[in-house]
Amino acid sequence: MSLKKLIEQKRINTLGINSGTSVDGVDLALLSVWFSPDGSTRVKVLGHSTVRYPQELRELIMKLSQAPHSTVEEIALADEALGVFFGRKAKAFIDNLRKKNYHTHLISSHGQTIRHIPESKNIAGISVRATFQIGAPERIATLTGIPVVSHFRQAHVAFGGEGSPITTGAIASLLSSRTENRIVVNIGGIANVFDLPASYKLNAKSAFDCGPGNVLIDLATSKLFGKPYDRGGEIASSGTLSSRLLTLISSNEFFDYTGAKSSGRKESKSSSLSTGRERYSAAALEKIIKSSRDLKISNRDMISTLSELTALKIAEAIFKILKYCDTNLCVYLTGGGLKNRDLIKRIRRLLHGIDVKSVAKLGYHPDYLEAISYAVMGYWTLKGKPTLAPEIIARRRGINVKKTKPLAPVLGRLIQAPQRKAWDYIAEQNT
Ligand SMILES: Nc1ncnc2c1ncn2[C@@H]1O[C@H](COP(=O)(O)OP(=O)(O)OP(=O)(O)O)[C@@H](O)[C@H]1O
Ligand SMILES: [Mg+2]
Repeated sequence: MSLKKLIEQKRINTLGINSGTSVDGVDLALLSVWFSPDGSTRVKVLGHSTVRYPQELRELIMKLSQAPHSTVEEIALADEALGVFFGRKAKAFIDNLRKKNYHTHLISSHGQTIRHIPESKNIAGISVRATFQIGAPERIATLTGIPVVSHFRQAHVAFGGEGSPITTGAIASLLSSRTENRIVVNIGGIANVFDLPASYKLNAKSAFDCGPGNVLIDLATSKLFGKPYDRGGEIASSGTLSSRLLTLISSNEFFDYTGAKSSGRKESKSSSLSTGRERYSAAALEKIIKSSRDLKISNRDMISTLSELTALKIAEAIFKILKYCDTNLCVYLTGGGLKNRDLIKRIRRLLHGIDVKSVAKLGYHPDYLEAISYAVMGYWTLKGKPTLAPEIIARRRGINVKKTKPLAPVLGRLIQAPQRKAWDYIAEQNT
């Protein structure tokens, strides 16, 4: 189908591909997306699947994410390899769903973040922030024959954002309510909070990264117990919280990037900056382990304490929002962290008296909400209407749109698929 025809099509089956900071795998969700007559965005999820990263690929991504210096050659090659991996997995998923007569028209791929630099730096007299995702979208388009939207975070940075969180518009569009004040917390590698008051006031402060999601717990369980994560939170629940360690690691400075001070990154101490996994690096974990050893704290108690810290940072973020939004409130949790029962128990305890539910109650699978959001953002990019959803929500709530501050529009980069003939030729070469 030509791009012109595709843009004109009302319902577009869009495949969202998410590969988050946990580096656990790739989430794929195919949804039919369309604008309803009032202009709001509607979705119907047609299928989803998760593909684990092969160990070698995971190790490469972890290395690139953590090393202060990776060579350009390493990054360039990893970008291509990951693009091929995404493309192959997307193709298998698409082919499978085609058997059910679900066709894919558009792909929207987040890419794998290997660096996040939310603080401005001076480069040759030019002040810039940056965020960097790999997983060449051209490869995905070539392997599937379908146009791909990507580079949402770079677009956010270009519009003056920090590159995170970027799904605010999509989350608001999918989950906000006219009658209920909602706070959505995505517990991925990093935890992000979205404030969705029923009165609707969406602005740059409506969404922020609030600290670690699973990243610290994952790092520690993998280092101390040889497991990629604390399944069900069993290790944490078998340990005891150490108040002394908690106090020590609660300070932001504890998680400053390696070398932050020597490179003079004053801004990195600001807790309001968005976060990447650099902050919660192996070096940060080593500091925690050392302190734990000094305090004679067992490995299990350390995992308990890190889980409590994670819950605490999430609860603190919610309390910050509560100043503005009080009654008729429900907190909705999403992301892989929901499977950590111990962590959820801690969050519930800290939020005592507040309703806490899974986004499943709103009809969205918590493992795929991010992939679904990217699919929506891909659809908006194709339609050239990135800010429409928040404006429409405001309008529907009877709020003067001119008075609402627009969000930084997140228009991704659109890669066209190769023409049919060229694609057939490429497919032949690749078999
Ligand atoms: N059974 C489980 N028990 C405990 N924790 C789990 C379980 N399954 C997954 N997790 C946690 O969820 C994490 C993956 O969550 P998720 O995929 O939402 O994060 P992500 O890939 O960082 O996504 P994003 O950054 O886009 O939000 C795992 O790394 C692990 O910590
Ligand atoms: Mg994941």
